[in-house]
Amino acid sequence: LPVVALISGSGSNLQALIDAQLRGAPIRIAAVISNRADAFGLERARRHDIPTEVLSHRDYGDREGFDAALGDLIDRFAPGLVVLAGFMRILTEGFVDRYQGRMMNIHPSLLPKYRGLHTHQRALDAGETEHGASVHFVTAELDGGPVILQARVPVLPGDDAAALAARVLEREHRIYPTAVRWFAEGRLRLGEDGRPHLDGTP
Ligand code: GRF
Repeated sequence: LPVVALISGSGSNLQALIDAQLRGAPIRIAAVISNRADAFGLERARRHDIPTEVLSHRDYGDREGFDAALGDLIDRFAPGLVVLAGFMRILTEGFVDRYQGRMMNIHPSLLPKYRGLHTHQRALDAGETEHGASVHFVTAELDGGPVILQARVPVLPGDDAAALAARVLEREHRIYPTAVRWFAEGRLRLGEDGRPHLDGTP
């Protein structure tokens, strides 16, 4: 399955997907697109001869213009799935509709808790004893789409946001490739009812 990944930063989740492809998952990362030229994830892609593109939102007057250009760039690679992997842009409804049922995101919280930014600090501030990450289909509601898979980690005494983030990230690198593999195998889809459907045993 051709996959296009959108990133803005380190790209460690992208790396986990590249590793899954190398280990034989039925995916082919066709391109990595970043809105930032300095995203380290671009370097990860280059190391594996994956085509990279930079599309700066600063070159566009509004979100609609940027998202339209982004969609046209994505479609050049004819992906069956678009994965957001630390892509730090809010997407317009038009863009989200364009990839309805074939775009996923990973978010560092146990959704529906802690949508948005600074999830680890917010979980600590709230005194949570458990935290985690969620893979979800993308819908127009920010971090609000139907959850496919979650990983839970304990919050430990003495944790700061960085320590908690590292514990969560390790689990992100397992659940994102798993969900993407399910989709590529044709076992996972977004149903008409707006819920994820998974066939067979994981
Ligand atoms: C991850 O925590 C992910 O959940 C969030 O952004 C971060 C991206 O990290 N959406 P990386 O670029 O994949 O290393």
